Amino acid sequence: MFRGTFAVIDLSALVNNVKKIQSVLPQGTKILVAVKANAYGHGDIAVAKAIEKSGSAHMLGLASLEEALRLREAGVRIPLLVLGYVDPLSFPVASQHQIELTFTGSSEDLLQVSQLSTPLQLHLKVDTGMGRLGLRSVSDVLKVAESIHQRPDLHLQGLFTHLAKADSPEDGHTSAQLRRFEEACSALAARGLLPPLLHAANTAAALQRQDAFYHMVRIGIGAYGYAPNADWPPSLSLQRVMHLYSTITRIAWLKAGDSVSYGATFVAKQDCRVATVCIGYADGYPRSLSNRGFAMVRGRKAPLLGRVCMDQLMLDVTHIPEAELGDPVTLFGHLAPDIWNGGALFKQRPEERERWIGETFSAASNRAEMPLDTLSRLAGTISYEMLTSISNRVPRIEISF
Ligand SMILES: Cc1ncc(COP(=O)(O)O)c(C=O)c1O
Repeated sequence: MFRGTFAVIDLSALVNNVKKIQSVLPQGTKILVAVKANAYGHGDIAVAKAIEKSGSAHMLGLASLEEALRLREAGVRIPLLVLGYVDPLSFPVASQHQIELTFTGSSEDLLQVSQLSTPLQLHLKVDTGMGRLGLRSVSDVLKVAESIHQRPDLHLQGLFTHLAKADSPEDGHTSAQLRRFEEACSALAARGLLPPLLHAANTAAALQRQDAFYHMVRIGIGAYGYAPNADWPPSLSLQRVMHLYSTITRIAWLKAGDSVSYGATFVAKQDCRVATVCIGYADGYPRSLSNRGFAMVRGRKAPLLGRVCMDQLMLDVTHIPEAELGDPVTLFGHLAPDIWNGGALFKQRPEERERWIGETFSAASNRAEMPLDTLSRLAGTISYEMLTSISNRVPRIEISF
């Protein structure tokens, strides 16, 4: 069965991006790749296994214990760190599966943690200016570190913070955050409690703030091929990992005065040729792109007409006379290879289709791109949200490395 909507996930681009970022870091700096939120929409298990197999990162970062357990159940053995809050009552499960946790609570909260049979590695988080999670004062950091130190079943493995503005030109905020982080580090060092892994940098800081590298950087969006801030791109050229495609399922001529989609918000000023495409907001394509977005058909821009529906959207292809039923539509990423035109995707034998898509995608010579950042801006959002919104209904076709 093939609906005609799919995402190509280029795992070799992913591994290349991680290696490229590693190449600009001082030797010995460890990398955590954030694979939370289904690996930013790319498929958590496939991404985790690719990173593990390539040996390109030291550990993976998740938002919740559930996300981490999913990877352990899939056989991922690389170190995992949950970056979000975990209820102390769940600590035994984490220790049983050798999942490292972020601790952001008080020393009283630690009393709720029952004696663990396997030691649990904890990373203390300091809120230095993100205002989200973490201990806010050095005295609290010391208190909790001491409580952890007193328990043989808990091990303080890391100390970290998260930067709020590393993706914009420095205005003092990042430096102030790092100064607060240094204060916490110095206080712990003075008591002989400094853990072996200090980390602060996200992608933005990993690409330009040497003072935030410490022992490990935590990269998310950069691994997937995007700059954290589209208006302030880093010099490093990264490769896109996700490419989103769908298919034209009908082409019809509308007459001047005819309307398109719910609410009839688009009314044709003149006769126009309209292509229906089988992707909608239930696939994660933003409804906010109604009457604003565009997609690429046969290498040309096709504007979106009317409202995006749950499962479909309509494009103006009046100026693309060669567009036909079964043609691929590029929503973002590399333009669909010409060989996919004219219903070729549907003509493949089902058991051969994924392989054929992967091979023809990799062999395509045209690497022109429909930029996700442009689309994100039109939708009033950022690449992070666009990528993580691509729903499970969209099959991911992986290109292994
Ligand atoms: C704690 C933490 N570290 C690192 C990252 C990775 O950030 P980025 O995707 O900007 O590299 C995130 C992502 O939100 C995060 O929450």
